[in-house]
Amino acid sequence: MGKGSGYGKVILFGEHFVVHGVPGIVSAIDSTTDAVVKKIGKGISVKDERKTAKGYSEEKRLQQLESIERMLKAMGIDPKTPLSIWIGGTLPGFSGLGASAASSVAIARAIAEELGMTMPDERINQAAYEAEKAYAGNPSGIDNTAATYGGLMWFQKNMSGGPDFVERLHTPQPVEIVIGSTGKVANTKAMVEGVAERKRKNPQKYDPLFKRAGEIAIEGRKTLEAGDLKKVGALMNENHTLLQEIEVSSRELDLLVGIARKQGAFGAKLTGGGGGGCMVALTPGRQLQEKVAKAIEQQGFEVLRTMIGVQKL
Ligand code: MEV
Repeated sequence: MGKGSGYGKVILFGEHFVVHGVPGIVSAIDSTTDAVVKKIGKGISVKDERKTAKGYSEEKRLQQLESIERMLKAMGIDPKTPLSIWIGGTLPGFSGLGASAASSVAIARAIAEELGMTMPDERINQAAYEAEKAYAGNPSGIDNTAATYGGLMWFQKNMSGGPDFVERLHTPQPVEIVIGSTGKVANTKAMVEGVAERKRKNPQKYDPLFKRAGEIAIEGRKTLEAGDLKKVGALMNENHTLLQEIEVSSRELDLLVGIARKQGAFGAKLTGGGGGGCMVALTPGRQLQEKVAKAIEQQGFEVLRTMIGVQKL
């Protein structure tokens, strides 16, 4: 029996823009997807026991099978190897939290252990990146990198195909956040393709937005490292406006962002692929975190109370 885990994540700055080489900032959260793999049975079977948004597993089932096939190829494993895969863990299957990447990392680690393969993190990350292509089409690599290594990270895709630019970041102290789920399952691949197409068709509108997204990531990094959380929040708000302009927000995401800001969150934005999925609000201190979380729950949405910048992750 082989076991493995992968971290969930929130993107604080730069989703979608990162696909095109703009830097972004991502933080792992203290929830993981876990996998157990046994080399038994016939072909590949998956038992998925994650807590998910309604319809998540059905929407992702075909992509999940394709992702495992891609992963086996990347790991140099015969696709006919019998593998019975169980997936569970504390990370909910909500769109936007890197659940697909976390599951790919968990499965790759569990398969490697079960088959007695020595796989350093770098190779696990690579296999999960290949698997992500099934879910995101043309992924940046930010989700699988966060799922593999954890922590708070600066990420910039290497557009020439070499290793991506990844740096570990540190905040003076961990900061509370609230993640609110719209409950809507989103198709990341369609969202990523939509942005690429609109960008290609309308460079006059899109180029300045992409330029500003890069500046926001740089300012976001400086202010996070300095612990200037008011400024971090203001930049998150501006990042959300950019995401609205590239048409990846939704009515429910804007509603959650509005509730969080009204309750005093320092900033709030959608996180991940958008079109549904989740929003993240910066809520330093347990009291503010609770206030924002409760207000969102009262409107009938699910929340996760967690932190960014936690050293051990
Ligand atoms: C999804 O969590 C983040 C996107 O930018 C896609 C990617 O970077 O692969 C939308």
